[in-house]
Amino acid sequence: MATMQLDGLLQKAKELEQQALQELQALSNTKLCEEFRIKYLGRKGQLAQLLDALKVLPPQERAAAGRALNLLKEMLTAELERRMVEFARLEEEARLRAEALDVTLPGRPQKLGSLHLITQVTKELEDIFVRLGFEVVTGPEVETDYYNFEALNMPKDHPARDEWDSFYIEGFEDLLLRTHTSPVQIRVMQERRPPVKVVVPGKCFRRDATDATHSPVFHQIEMLWVDKGITLAHLKGTILAFIEEFFGKNFEARFVGDYFPFTEPSLQVHVRRKGSPRWLEILGAGMVDPAVLQEVDYDPEEYTGFAFGLGVERMAMLKYGVDDIRTFYQNDIRFIETF
Ligand code: PHE
Repeated sequence: MATMQLDGLLQKAKELEQQALQELQALSNTKLCEEFRIKYLGRKGQLAQLLDALKVLPPQERAAAGRALNLLKEMLTAELERRMVEFARLEEEARLRAEALDVTLPGRPQKLGSLHLITQVTKELEDIFVRLGFEVVTGPEVETDYYNFEALNMPKDHPARDEWDSFYIEGFEDLLLRTHTSPVQIRVMQERRPPVKVVVPGKCFRRDATDATHSPVFHQIEMLWVDKGITLAHLKGTILAFIEEFFGKNFEARFVGDYFPFTEPSLQVHVRRKGSPRWLEILGAGMVDPAVLQEVDYDPEEYTGFAFGLGVERMAMLKYGVDDIRTFYQNDIRFIETF
């Protein structure tokens, strides 16, 4: 009986050896080697199971069988080790090849850039107004006198034109660099019937002397909402909502009366950081003047609307603590990289 058990065990060991050697030949990478090790040589592997079975043999047979199994284990371990080392070397070579850096290739690595703060702020503001239901549209930077002034209720000799010192295009009496984004109001209303609810970002140009808060080139965003029943309350609500969204709760705003030929009544909005003594004018606003609505064939009895135009640079200066508008255009890379 005991002999039968010994023979059976040795037979099993023989089979295991054959099968294991066959599988060893088929291995092709270190991962498969590891799987092989677990299957045959691991703590719960096939050899461990055979060694476990030795316990039932009488002591004198146990020793011989144990020696045979241990030899088998050593042989398989050594063989596996040999293959492991071989695959590890091949895999390392492949990895180095894949990671190789050819230092003879031309070019110098470049740091990725970022959007200019003015672009970032413009996008941030556009997003706020899009969430409030406005649609983004744009218009030309070179405008006609008609769109920049006349259609906005400023005929040729209107004194209010002096508010906007303009760059005219040489040789074209009627063309100028737009002094504000308001002409796009007219362009949009000519093309559409109410309701009109648009946000218009863009560059503007004025012959202003450059100082800490004025630049001859700057950016505005214009809002226009025309529909039945739009009131001053819509205007104030919209402005307060976006100011809180953009600046957060540490800022406050105040409305001050103003005059624009194309709005009636008109007002301007000042903002400051709470506690700061200095208010900064950030936008002009008002209810669209009936004369402007008539100019685009909207019936002022039926439709009303509000408009406001804000200065992007000033918004950015307040929010990000930039105290000189010229900083935006000097292109000092240390400033640009800060944002
Ligand atoms: N266009 C005006 C400016 O540039 C601002 C404004 C826009 C005022 C819309 C009222 C309504 O000063």
